[in-house]
Amino acid sequence: MAPGANAARTEEDEGTTLDLDFAQSVLAGLSAAPKTLEPKWLYDALGAKIFEAICELDTYYPTRMEMSLLAARAPEIAESLGKDLILIEPGSGEGVKVRLLLDALAERVAVYVPVDIAAEQLVFLAQSISAAYPDMLVAPVVADFTGAFVLPSDLPDGERVLFFPGSTIGNFEPDEAIALLARLREESQADDLIIGIDTCKDPERLVAAYDDPVGVTASFNKNLLNRINRELGGTFDLAAFRHEARFNAEKSRVEMHLVSLAEQTVTVLGQPIAFAEGETIHTESSHKYAPEDFQALAVRAGWTPDRYWIDDEGLFSLHVVRA
Ligand code: AVJ
Repeated sequence: MAPGANAARTEEDEGTTLDLDFAQSVLAGLSAAPKTLEPKWLYDALGAKIFEAICELDTYYPTRMEMSLLAARAPEIAESLGKDLILIEPGSGEGVKVRLLLDALAERVAVYVPVDIAAEQLVFLAQSISAAYPDMLVAPVVADFTGAFVLPSDLPDGERVLFFPGSTIGNFEPDEAIALLARLREESQADDLIIGIDTCKDPERLVAAYDDPVGVTASFNKNLLNRINRELGGTFDLAAFRHEARFNAEKSRVEMHLVSLAEQTVTVLGQPIAFAEGETIHTESSHKYAPEDFQALAVRAGWTPDRYWIDDEGLFSLHVVRA
């Protein structure tokens, strides 16, 4: 791997090395009006753990719905793919979903390439997948897939399949989502894309998924302030902010915000950031798409929609699109 290309920060670095990308992004976002923070920073080691807990919540239906769609449809998906596959997963996380696919694809996958920003979790995943599927090669890449990433140069020839579950694409503005889907296709020379998309539905149900009664999502959101305090010498008082999930009907998305409970000034990397009472930091958007709307988006990114599956309640959809 070229030095610096997909440079990983390990747990040990935290607090000792300044992550310049994180610092610049945070200062830019907190200086903007309205204030924003990029959702990818929610996933430090603790954030990734809290996200796993979110997936266990009764109110957070997307993970369960997608898992059951995958379990039911993986054999059909497998049939529509060739052999000697190269399976590439941007944002592989803890890799629970890919196992459902691998169980159906089994001997057909020659190489699995998980790509993730969280180095430790990625190494752990690579080891456990290797152990579970011994005939398959696992070639992990530590990288932030929202930027350019370099795939291993020695991948064998074969059909390339991108796996992008979790409705993660929903965290991007539609224009960014189109650019990302186009770039993923070009950079990975993918032939197929298997992608999970949360549908638009009753706003109450949507908001409940992002504002659970246990407060897990609130701590997921607030952990970002904690991370800024720890890594960027921030002075956020976590008790002076409140988690809020809002449905934005015009943009068909759920937004997560951190609302300032008072007029206050916070310092980050020595820079003062002033908040009015009630002012918010917009930390994440989760865009929701009807199946046809996602297909139209995929077309604009240069993909050709093939099939999709949706559960009986219409809560979540799983799409296969082709290059
Ligand atoms: C990362 C797209 C799966 O937007 O639903 C969950 C992240 N944020 N609860 C989403 C998230 C708050 C999640 N995904």
